[in-house]
Amino acid sequence: MEKREELYSGKAKSVFKTDDPDRFVLSFRDDTSAFDGLKVEQLARKGMVNNKFNAFIMEKLQAAGIPTHFEALLNDTESLVKRLDMIPVECVVRNISAGSLVKRLGVEEGLELNPPTFELFLKNDALHDPMVNESLAQSFGWATAEQLAKMKALTFEVNTVLKKLFLDAGILLVDYKLEFGVFSDGQVYLGDEFSPDGCRLWDKDTREKLDKDRFRKGLGNVVEAYEEVGRRLGMQFD
Ligand code: TMP
Ligand code: ASP
Repeated sequence: MEKREELYSGKAKSVFKTDDPDRFVLSFRDDTSAFDGLKVEQLARKGMVNNKFNAFIMEKLQAAGIPTHFEALLNDTESLVKRLDMIPVECVVRNISAGSLVKRLGVEEGLELNPPTFELFLKNDALHDPMVNESLAQSFGWATAEQLAKMKALTFEVNTVLKKLFLDAGILLVDYKLEFGVFSDGQVYLGDEFSPDGCRLWDKDTREKLDKDRFRKGLGNVVEAYEEVGRRLGMQFD
C-alpha cells in the first residue's frame, strides 16, 4: 500500500488517498477542537494516543461482529481504513445525562438514562451540528430509512460492547458519538474514530471526567486522562 495525496483535512484528522481506490490513510493530528472549531489547540501526543485508542476499540468492536472501516495500525499516528462515503448524520447514545442534553432540557447532569437515549445531529460546524431526526434525514436524502435503521442498531450494539468494556476498567461510558458510511460493497460501516475526543468517560467512583470535557472546560491534563483510560483498558502507548 502506497500513501498518496491528502484528500481532506478535518479538525483533528487528515485523510490521504492510497494506491488502492478502496483504502484511505487516516492521520491523527495533535489538533484538538471544541465548540465546532471555536477553540483549537495542539496537545502533544494526542494524535498518537487517539490513533492507538481508536485501533484498540475498533478491533474490539470488529471482534464483536460490528462492521468498521478499520483495517490496520500503520504507525504511531496513522491507520489504514476502508474508503467510505460518509453519511453526514452523527449518532449519539447517552447512558447518563451530560453536555448538550443538560443544556437543552434543563435537567441535572449525572442522571441515569434508562433506556439509553438515541439522537441524530447533522454534521455541520457552521450550524453547530443541529439536532435532526430520521424524517429530516430521509427527506433531505442524507440517509435512507434502511441505513438509518442499521445505524441505530449498530450504535446500540456498540453501547452493549463498550459499556461493559469500560465498566470492567472502572469507567462509566456516559455518552458517545458515532459516524457511519457506505463502502463499495453497498453496506453501512462504522467510520471516523472512537476515542475520548468523541465520548464522555467518567471514573466510576469519583465521577472525574476523563475525556474531551477536560479540554472544553479547561481542566488540564487532557492527554494524560486519555492515556489513563487507555492504560486501564490494557492499551500500550510507547
Ligand atoms: P453533546 O452532549 O455535545 O450533544 O455530545 C454528546 C456526545 O457526542 C459527547 O460525548 C460528545 C460527542 N459529540 C462529538 O464528539 N462531536 C459532535 O459533533 C457532537 C454533536 C457530539
Ligand atoms: N467535535 C466538535 C469540535 O471539535 C464539537 C466538540 O467537541 O465540542 O469542535
